[in-house]
Amino acid sequence: MNPTSILVVLAVLFAVADGFEFRYPLPHFANVFIIFWDGISSKMGVVGHGVTVMTPAVKEVEFFLAPFLDVVLGGDFKNCHHFDVRIAHDRVDDAKVENSAPQPNQERPEDPEPIVTVKTCGGDVNATSASIEFQLWRSIRADMRCVWIVRGPYLKKRFNLIASGLKETDGIYLSAVSYAGLGNSLKLSRSAQNVTIDSEIVIISLIVGHAPTLGFKMEFYSSGASSTAPDKLSCEILTSAKGNVSYPRGGGRYGRYELALFPIAPSVPRRPTLRFTRVDLQASSNCRYDDAIMIYNWSDGRYVLVTVFCGNTIPASVTFQDGAGLVLFQSDLINAGTGFEFQYE
Ligand SMILES: *[C@@H]1O[C@H](CO)[C@@H](O)[C@H](O)[C@H]1NC(C)=O
Ligand SMILES: *[C@@H]1O[C@H](CO)[C@@H](O)[C@H](O)[C@H]1NC(C)=O
Ligand SMILES: *[C@@H]1O[C@H](CO)[C@@H](O)[C@H](O)[C@H]1NC(C)=O
Ligand SMILES: *[C@@H]1O[C@H](CO)[C@@H](O)[C@H](O)[C@H]1NC(C)=O
Repeated sequence: MNPTSILVVLAVLFAVADGFEFRYPLPHFANVFIIFWDGISSKMGVVGHGVTVMTPAVKEVEFFLAPFLDVVLGGDFKNCHHFDVRIAHDRVDDAKVENSAPQPNQERPEDPEPIVTVKTCGGDVNATSASIEFQLWRSIRADMRCVWIVRGPYLKKRFNLIASGLKETDGIYLSAVSYAGLGNSLKLSRSAQNVTIDSEIVIISLIVGHAPTLGFKMEFYSSGASSTAPDKLSCEILTSAKGNVSYPRGGGRYGRYELALFPIAPSVPRRPTLRFTRVDLQASSNCRYDDAIMIYNWSDGRYVLVTVFCGNTIPASVTFQDGAGLVLFQSDLINAGTGFEFQYE
């Protein structure tokens, strides 16, 4: 074992023995060791060029292996710039009950009833709970796509299908979003009630088969610990037949820890082709754990990652054959650029 591996193993063992949980699988997210003793913040620490910076949201740092970072950054860990640990929320609560300290981040219960109702095809739902109802018992055209983004302020999100006229060939899919990108999609059906997802952001996609169908009603409730959303989260759901998008919207440079989501799901079914015309992000060899743009193609019940790029790379155009896709942009803490522009039609 080389000295780097020994250091990494020691730090990991120390963290585990101290009651910390790794939020993402270790081999994929490694290198910056930040241990929070209250475990509240899940913000990532990022290291670049020997500079160690942490967001103001990070509280009560127990220790930070700054002197070792350059060592840890070597070897296999190079280019895996995010490492994220925290105490499981339940353990945080136990500790807080024991010492009966004030509980600023106590578990938050679900709302008794959904506080907002959304009836449109797609939408940006920023609420603790919502009823999402689209064409309930009324007809929906074949091949329809609708995308809702749910981002309640609490981490745990429970989804229930209340009523549905959807057919077997249609589906409502839930996909969690994190800094690792989009997770797998779960199909919500009457037989799988109370689907619970622990994520700051969940994307709901309605995918109608090649025949007309009937609408549905579902509910969503968030609860539990406060979520640590990105510093800035932008969502723009693109439903027109074609469009041009630039980010940041007002020009200038993007900031740190931004996450921007652009689901592309034209409300009149078609197969949009996406073309990037300008890309100016921080460059890195791996992209994915630094500033990056990811393009996802809806295919066979899930969002499939087509490409990840950064720097000034203009990717090949992508056609969403199944009528829906998504562009995800994320930034880390350092070296912001002037963003990007794309067209789709
Ligand atoms: C989401 O809702 C909260 C509470 O209503 C509000 O403070 C916050 O600004 C909203 N965020 C966005 C991005 O609209
Ligand atoms: C779903 O969860 C709610 C709230 O926890 C509970 O009241 C309800 O009985 C659950 N439904 C099913 C089918 O498990
Ligand atoms: C997008 O921009 C291109 C060139 O900048 C222009 O030709 C095209 O008409 C624009 N499309 C839309 C939908 O605005
Ligand atoms: C996107 O998914 C569709 C449907 O599965 C597939 O036909 C197409 O080749 C995919 N496109 C890309 C660029 O991956």
